[in-house]
Order: sequence, then structure tokens, then C-alpha cells
Amino acid sequence: MSIQDKFDKLEERTKEAMLGGGEERIEKQHKAGRLTARERIDLLLDKNTFVEVDRFMTHRNTNFKLDKFYGDGVVTGYGKIDGRLIYVFAQDFTVYGGTLSRANADKVVKIMEMALKMGAPVIGLNDSGGARIQEGVESLAGYADIFHLNVRASGVIPQISAILGPCAGGAVYSPALTDFIMMVQKSSYMFVTGPDVIKTVTHEEVTKEELGGAMTHNSKSGVAHLMAEDDEKAMMMLSELMSFLPSNNMEDPPMKPCTDDILREDNSLQEIVPDDPNKPYDIKDIITKVVDEGNFFEIMPNYAQNIVVGFARMAGRPVGIVANQPAHLAGVLDIESSMKGARFVRFCDSFNIPLITFEDVPGFLPGTDQEFGGIIKHGAKLLYAFSEATVPKITIITRKAYGGAYDVMSSKHIGADVNLAYPTAEIAVMGPEGAVNIIYRKDNLTEEQRLEKVEEYKEKFASPYRAAELGYIDEIIYPKQTRPKIIAALEMTQNKTEAMPPKKHGNIPL
Ligand code: HXC
Repeated sequence: MSIQDKFDKLEERTKEAMLGGGEERIEKQHKAGRLTARERIDLLLDKNTFVEVDRFMTHRNTNFKLDKFYGDGVVTGYGKIDGRLIYVFAQDFTVYGGTLSRANADKVVKIMEMALKMGAPVIGLNDSGGARIQEGVESLAGYADIFHLNVRASGVIPQISAILGPCAGGAVYSPALTDFIMMVQKSSYMFVTGPDVIKTVTHEEVTKEELGGAMTHNSKSGVAHLMAEDDEKAMMMLSELMSFLPSNNMEDPPMKPCTDDILREDNSLQEIVPDDPNKPYDIKDIITKVVDEGNFFEIMPNYAQNIVVGFARMAGRPVGIVANQPAHLAGVLDIESSMKGARFVRFCDSFNIPLITFEDVPGFLPGTDQEFGGIIKHGAKLLYAFSEATVPKITIITRKAYGGAYDVMSSKHIGADVNLAYPTAEIAVMGPEGAVNIIYRKDNLTEEQRLEKVEEYKEKFASPYRAAELGYIDEIIYPKQTRPKIIAALEMTQNKTEAMPPKKHGNIPL
């Protein structure tokens, strides 16, 4: 064979590998409104940066007469997003439905191990029928190897999953172990057991979309964190998400040049918190007026809307924002919002992203539903997460900070570095009405006397001044100053070092 023949052979094989399961199956994938693994990678990564690994790997199954396709149902490798190194695997649905064989798992494991060694994030593009049935326990072993690596990599490198087709059975647990899950509307679904099994076992009738579609997991179950309209938008969203994250836990998150005035005061902020403490307002109006260029990348916007979490930049530096949302259930803390907040806080702390907390919380939600559901242990998650976080923590109380929720929401007492309050802040054990009803329970007050006592209580306790006298609040600020004050606090805390006592790991109430 001449050298030219050898070159031709490589070209031929490469061409074949590019086609995955063949043109017919690619067409079927497109008709279903989905892109192929390679098209997705092209959209995700900077142009011409993708380096494929194990392009010619094939399955090693001898029990069935299975055709061999180069790549064996997954495209793996590395490339760049915004010039930064990223590892990626994309399941190729055109080859045996992107199912996981031993060889296919080995490819994923290989790039995950490389990512851990080099300290760069892994993005998984999932589109698969699950375990390759013909491979039996070897496929299950492959999954377990990936799960194990997901856990080892947790908190070391960011791991992001996009669900772009089916993801069912035990296969859901790799995405579930990663930091963020994005789903695409109408074409993706995730469930442990599908509609047919459910019908047999519990006689419930449910469609795939209702059971495990993008909206279900983004609004009901809280399994997914982000939702995109189609594959293309999903890839754009992933690269925006990556822009806030460091490559690993030893790095600071990436700075961007800031074109927004760092001393910018905003008079419209003076009027966002209403006079009437029972009137709602949208906390996102404050967030977007304060962060660089009003750009707030919200995580889980459709789930537990009484708490708002997401990323933004301040003076070019990524920050994680946690905020009670008075416009939804008065911003109360309940089971779902506590879990949502806790997971986000822990992510930010793992990856050196400072935490900014906007607080307007009337307390924990009362009720048997909440108590029987374990609000004690779930609320404790948020308390635990804020307490253990050693990143810079800055808190701004805009209005209510009542009861245990005051302590939980990044108070001075659990390690916040800078605690600010608006003059409209009300920091007390409970709201004036509730307090007066309890304190004067035996006094048979007339309505007039009761209202007087409410006013008296408000004057005395429902303000930030008592907390400021005690040093629990460092400064009472005008709302218009929020941006410069937070930026000054971030600058002051930027070299913060704080170590936890040596331990294997804590025991967060799960
Ligand atoms: C081998 C599979 C397969 C599987 C699909 N294919 N699933 N091959 N093992 N699990 C193949 C099909 O034979 C077909 O091959 C190609 O993939 C595309 O599948 P279609 O059925 O034509 O596609 P579609 O109609 O879009 O349906 C996709 C699907 C369906 C919903 C995923 O194929 C399906 O239900 N598959 C079975 C899923 C399943 O039960 N998986 C095991 C789950 S248990 P050709 O050659 O025709 O293109 C599990 C355990 C993991 O995953 C445990 C981890 C701990």
C-alpha cells in the first residue's frame, strides 16, 4: 500500500465516522427537530477548536451480530468556549439510539478523567435510549464508572448536562449528579420509569411530556435548572452559563471588562420597595438595576419562584445572587425554595463565586404540608449552605427579615462579611400584627388599642436601627447606592480567606 493509499484510507474512514449511523438516520434526527451530536458540538464550541478523541472506537460485543459504527454512539473530545478549554461528550442518537455500550462508556470516562487532570469543565450532551441492551451488565458497569467519576469531579470542575432527546432509566443519574441540567422544550424527556411501566404498576396514564418533559422538570420536580426552545438556543445558553464559571475549584471565576459605571447610583431604586409593607414588588427589578448592564442569568426561573437565584457580574466579576421574591408567595421560605437556594449557594461556594443575598422574607411557611414534608430538615439545608460557605458573602435587607429566616438568609451571625440594610428594613422576631397578638393576648385590647400597639411595635422593632446598634447590620444605605456599595464590599472581600476545621466532609441534612 502506497503512502497515498494510507492517506486515502484515513480520509475514507474519517468520512464514514462523520456520518455516524448514516444519512438516513441523520435525516430522521433532523425531522424530529433535533441536531446530530456533531452539529451540536460545532454550535457549542469556538470555531475549529474541537479535537475529537477516539473517533474510530467501535463496540466489542460478540454475543450479537451488531454492525460496527465508528465512534459507537458518542462523540467525545475537547475544544474551547470563549477561548477556554472545555471537555465535551455528545451522544449520537444515529448509532443505536446513542445507547451506552462498554466502549461508549470508556470514551466518556476517558475525557472525564482528562478533564479532572487538566482542571477543565465537562459538558455532556445527552440524547440516548439508555443502556445498550445487547451489552447487558457491561453497560451497567459503564454507567456506574461514569457516576463514580461524576461524584469525584463534583466540586472540582463544573459539570453541565444538556438533555436533548430521551434520557431514561438509570441513565438519568449521571445528569442528576452534575451541577446544572438544561432541557430542550418538546424534544427532551427524563424519567426513571416511563409511561408504560407507570401504567402497569400504578394504573396512572401520563404522556412522556407530562411525565418528564422540559417544563415538568423545570417547574414541578426541580430536576432541571434551565430550559431552551431548541438545540441551537440550548448551545448558546450553555456557553453563556460557562462565562460565569471558573474552569475548576482552584481558579477564580473569569473577569470581563466592565463598561457599566461602578459608581452608578440609580434614583429609581428609591421607589421600588412600596410604603405599604404588605404590598409586593419584583425583586428582579432591584437585581437588574444593580448588576453590570442589567444582565442577570437566572437559574431555575420556573421553580420555587419565591426565591430567585442566578449569576450576574459586578464590576466585571461574576457573582451568585440569592434573593427572596416578595412578588411570589410574599417571598416566604418553604421546602422547595430552601432546597433551590441551598444547592445554588453550595455551587457558588464550591467554585469561588461570591454570594450576594437580597433579603425580604416574612419567615418560613406555616402549615401541615410543610411540617409533614420536612421543612425543618429542608430549611436547615439553606442554613447549612450559607453557614458553610466561605466565599465573600454580602447581604442587603430590603424589607422584611423576620424570625429564623433572618438568621438563615446570610445573616452576620452565620458568617456574612458585609450586611447592609435599606431604611425600609424590618428586622424582628415576627411581623407587628403577630407580635402584638401574642404579647397582649391576655389584655383584651380594643381595636384602637391594638392598632396603637402595632404602631408602637413597628416604631421600636420593625426597623433596621436596633440591628445596626448591635453591629448586626454594618451600614444602612439608601437604595440608590446599592450598586456602588456592593461593589465596594466585593473589592474589600476579594482576598478573603477562611478555612473550615479539618474534616472528611460535613453532614448536610439531606
Ligand atoms: C440498543 C437501542 C436501544 C437500547 C434504542 N435502540 N434503544 N439499541 N439498546 N436500549 C436502537 C433502536 O433499535 C434503533 O436502532 C435506534 O436505537 C433508534 O431507536 P428507535 O426506537 O427507532 O427511535 P425512537 O422511535 O426515537 O425511540 C427512541 C426510544 C426507544 C424511546 C429511546 O428506542 C426506546 O424506548 N428504547 C428502549 C429504551 C430502554 O428501554 N432503554 C433501557 C433503559 S434501562 P436502528 O438500528 O433501527 O436505528 C437503562 C438502565 C441504565 O438505561 C442503568 C444505569 C444504572
